[in-house]
Amino acid sequence: MALYSRISGTGSALPARRLTNADLVTLLAERGLETSDEWIVERTGIRARHFVDADTNASDLAFKACEAALQAAGCPLSDIDLIVVGTSTPDMVFPSTATILQNKLTQAALARGEAGGAGGAAFDVQAVCSGFVYALTLADALIKTGTAHKALVVGAEVFSRILDFNDRTTCVLFGDGAGAVVLEACEHDGSGPGILATDIHADGKHTGILCVPGTVSGGQVLGDPTLKMDGQAVFKLAVGVLEDAARAVLDKAGKTAADVDWLVPHQANIRIMQGTARKLKLPMDKVVVTVDQHGNTSAASIPLALDEAVRSGKVLPGQIVMLEGVGGGFTWGAVLLKM
Ligand code: UT7
Repeated sequence: MALYSRISGTGSALPARRLTNADLVTLLAERGLETSDEWIVERTGIRARHFVDADTNASDLAFKACEAALQAAGCPLSDIDLIVVGTSTPDMVFPSTATILQNKLTQAALARGEAGGAGGAAFDVQAVCSGFVYALTLADALIKTGTAHKALVVGAEVFSRILDFNDRTTCVLFGDGAGAVVLEACEHDGSGPGILATDIHADGKHTGILCVPGTVSGGQVLGDPTLKMDGQAVFKLAVGVLEDAARAVLDKAGKTAADVDWLVPHQANIRIMQGTARKLKLPMDKVVVTVDQHGNTSAASIPLALDEAVRSGKVLPGQIVMLEGVGGGFTWGAVLLKM
């Protein structure tokens, strides 16, 4: 018998405000910038994205996603002894969005007459669009060492707050949202559900191709606090490293691409997803695609897509699922698991 961590529930949340490509064409035209539905769809596959209102933060979206995941898992908040949030758009410089989330979940549970969830560890992981893959890898390791037993693993982002709406090359690509899973310890002989292999990496020499270069110092914002990206450089790097990470988790788990029932990739660009699927010889009908409706929600995109695939009945218990992400840093990684 061996110790595994398995996903026992998924949840997600999207802000109510939905902007189609046509809405962005109007918004950018007001700034004297030209874009089109055709350009955005052809280059990215994106048709719509959701943006938060001024009062909503990453922890609010994370809260809704976690409540849904806990309900799906049939897990009371008081059982959770670890919260890891992947985010690059935290509510505050500090404390972490994870601790703010823990308190929101606790207050809601107490208001329902249930026990709260304070006391377990809670922290953020900053790996940009690879944030959820990093967070899941950490939570899996903490469960396998017996440090934690039931975790909420979350990706939550409000990228609309860091977009430059005078830069048409980036502002049409991103959206806001959150996704969460309950990850819990289980013991079996290897034939049951659980995370089979993880693989995470970074190469800091590529910092400049995808970054928000500004910071806060002496009460002032120093530098530019909006997202900058060399799209073509990111694109080229992404396809290569995603293939490497995918092959690494398959090797570690003793599986081949033919064993994969579903690929749930980071939802950045349909062409990157098609490129990865082609390299792995996976047909596109085994790839979960939500980029058309969500845009790129950074660390939230994988758990958002996974939750939609679970709730729509695509991803089923017992199936082999590969998650893979790539993002600023440069960071990348993959997780292979059995549902
Ligand atoms: O989550 C992190 C990961 N991020 C990514 O994965 C992003 C990866 N990169 C990409 O997805 C693509 O590189 C983009 C979608 C960002 C851009 O697509 P591209 O095919 O690389 O286009 P490009 O940058 O080569 O631009 C082609 C043309 C340019 O015009 P010229 O110089 O050929 O006249 C751009 O100015 O498209 C123009 N352009 C636009 N036109 C209409 C750039 N943005 C827009 C726009 N609407 N929004």
